[in-house]
Amino acid sequence: MAIQIPRGTQDILPGEVEKWQYIEEVVKDICRRYQYKEIRTPIFEHTELFQKGVGDTTDIVQKEMYTFEDRGGRSLTLRPEGTASVARSFVEHKMFGNPNQPVKLYYNGQMFRYERPQKGRFRQFVQFGAEVLGAQEPSIDAEVIALAMEIYRELGLKNLKLVINSLGDKESRIAHRDALISHFKPRINEFCGDCQNRLEKNPLRILDCKKDRDHELMKTAPSILEYLNEASKEYFEKVLSYLTALEIPFEVDATLVRGLDYYNHTAFEIMSNAEGFGAITTLCGGGRYNGLIQEMGGPETPGIGFAFSIERLIAALEIEGISFNDETKVDCYIVSLGEEAKDYAVVLLQQLRKAGISAEKDYLDRKMKAQLKAADRTGARFVAILGEDEIKKNVINLKDMETGSQTEMSLSDFVSEFKKISTGEV
Ligand code: HAM
Repeated sequence: MAIQIPRGTQDILPGEVEKWQYIEEVVKDICRRYQYKEIRTPIFEHTELFQKGVGDTTDIVQKEMYTFEDRGGRSLTLRPEGTASVARSFVEHKMFGNPNQPVKLYYNGQMFRYERPQKGRFRQFVQFGAEVLGAQEPSIDAEVIALAMEIYRELGLKNLKLVINSLGDKESRIAHRDALISHFKPRINEFCGDCQNRLEKNPLRILDCKKDRDHELMKTAPSILEYLNEASKEYFEKVLSYLTALEIPFEVDATLVRGLDYYNHTAFEIMSNAEGFGAITTLCGGGRYNGLIQEMGGPETPGIGFAFSIERLIAALEIEGISFNDETKVDCYIVSLGEEAKDYAVVLLQQLRKAGISAEKDYLDRKMKAQLKAADRTGARFVAILGEDEIKKNVINLKDMETGSQTEMSLSDFVSEFKKISTGEV
């Protein structure tokens, strides 16, 4: 049997890849306007980075990492997310010393998680993410959320729901942690092994356990919002007031804890509420992570960011019936007949392409009718027909495929004249 693609991965073929390219362009342009600069980090990192950064007790680290030993005996891991790598790079390149603060970065790249594949969940997926390092300011929290929402809005998504929560500062989290331990401890033996292990280490993780989701203690668990100290409460309220000022509707959900350990203060998710979207509705997740840079060995530096996968974004666009114009169509297809014309077409094709025109020709030595059919299949806007007679007369016939009209043009200055026609100058 022929070798097949690994489970949870996908080929993105021509026809589909144009959507990705379009999204990448839109995202790049929006990042330019919001002043986020691109960063590219390696696809694999030392395993320790994610153990430390994402957290030892998270599902990602415990169950989902692609970890392997290289030939030198080092433990490496295919990145399951981008924030830990960005934090490492920030420290490694001493970006905290950069006079331009905060440092605003974005990335777009493959991530890997050994999860059970289903609709919207892959083992290799592409995350777009943005991170702001070096500012603890409610307006930055609001900006980061606004950036994510703006990307979705500009791509045309309408059925979105922003869910937001605060996990508070260290003091609030410790108070909440104690309350969670007291809440779950008496009946912890009714929970799965993972939850039992997490009780003392990191009780917050119990709240996003997939197995014990329906246990009655989950519904009555103490809410973080009740444990926020004054400073955390004030910070959260300011973030919400900025969102209101930016006309971004939100829903506060005290049960939103996120699946990674580095969060504090603002945590948020953007969901699709389009009808029929399927079981996984979260499109985007993010939040503040003020301790992460220190954890990576850098100076105390606040951070906030988000990430979303292009796969889920495309699924949301599809369910909302949003399609894009295909910009990759052929402007000019050259149909040539006879040896001399065929040779001429080779050079003409190159000249058109050099002049910025997307051009194509027949490579299969087809007959006139078949060449015209092939031209039609490429969606060519114009077809240039060149035969022995035309060569002799130094002309070429240009057919407008939209109107069907045909014009005889001079062959010598065809490229410059065609350029004028195709850009609408004449
Ligand atoms: P996360 O919630 O683990 O957060 O993932 C963020 C987004 O990545 C999800 O909302 C989803 O769009 C996408 N995603 C995650 N797993 C999969 C999968 N198996 N298949 C398809 N898409 C997936 C993070 O990764 C954090 N680093 C986000 C962040 C950045 N927080 C602060 N800065």
